[in-house]
Amino acid sequence: MEESGPGRVAPRLVPYSRPRLGAADAFVRAREFRADMATRRSVRMFSADAVPRELIELAIMTAASAPSGAHQQPWTFVAVGDPTIKQRIRLAAEEEERRSYEGGRMPPDWLAALEPLGTDWHKPFLEIAPWIVVLFEQVHGWSTDGTVRKHYYARESVGIACGLFIAAIHRMGLATLTHTPSPMGFLTGILERPKNERPFVLLPVGYPAVDCTVPDLTRKALDEVAVFVDGPTGPGT
Ligand SMILES: Cc1cc2nc3c(=O)[nH]c(=O)nc-3n(C[C@H](O)[C@H](O)[C@H](O)COP(=O)(O)O)c2cc1C
Repeated sequence: MEESGPGRVAPRLVPYSRPRLGAADAFVRAREFRADMATRRSVRMFSADAVPRELIELAIMTAASAPSGAHQQPWTFVAVGDPTIKQRIRLAAEEEERRSYEGGRMPPDWLAALEPLGTDWHKPFLEIAPWIVVLFEQVHGWSTDGTVRKHYYARESVGIACGLFIAAIHRMGLATLTHTPSPMGFLTGILERPKNERPFVLLPVGYPAVDCTVPDLTRKALDEVAVFVDGPTGPGT
């Protein structure tokens, strides 16, 4: 626990509480959220239909509510709706992906792991989706005197923000893809980001195309992903 002492600034604390839900309400909300999130899929076939910028802003603000190491909020979201920039991103991403898929840059076991998804170097969705949101990780920050300020757990923090963004987009009836064209350095140049920011993930956002299909996947069951060490009351009812 943090304690104030000589040379330390006492933290400013504010009251915090949440409405306590009855058990029934908690289950209803938990099941509703779980069922909705279970229908989330990564989409690679988008409609070109417009999505209001305000929805993207809301998703970004939801993502930016994520916890972060030492509350440093080490993320920058760049939302691109400009067709010219989207085209530049598509061409650069396809160039990198072509070299990876067909130029021998991806080892055979990686290609084999991707086979069930049917992905290749073509990324037309990067131009078709009305928005591309690129999430940058601020590897370090800057102090007021211009010196480097270390960021703690930046990667983990940005990963959590990314998850909240994906959930927020899904709740709006929109779809996205967690896209990581490798390597992603071209995004720094195209989007003119500073040196302390590293591209983390690229997220096209839009409605799924009317004829959208997705790979037929199953998800692991609870007992494959979780281990419980029950307390004295047991598993409960
Ligand atoms: C870190 C990360 C990177 C990913 N990179 C890509 C990618 O570059 N291209 C792609 O088509 N899908 C990518 N995906 C999406 C996965 O293939 C997808 O999440 C997985 O197949 C499960 O499908 P679902 O998201 O529909 O449940 C990525 C997912 C994650 C979490």
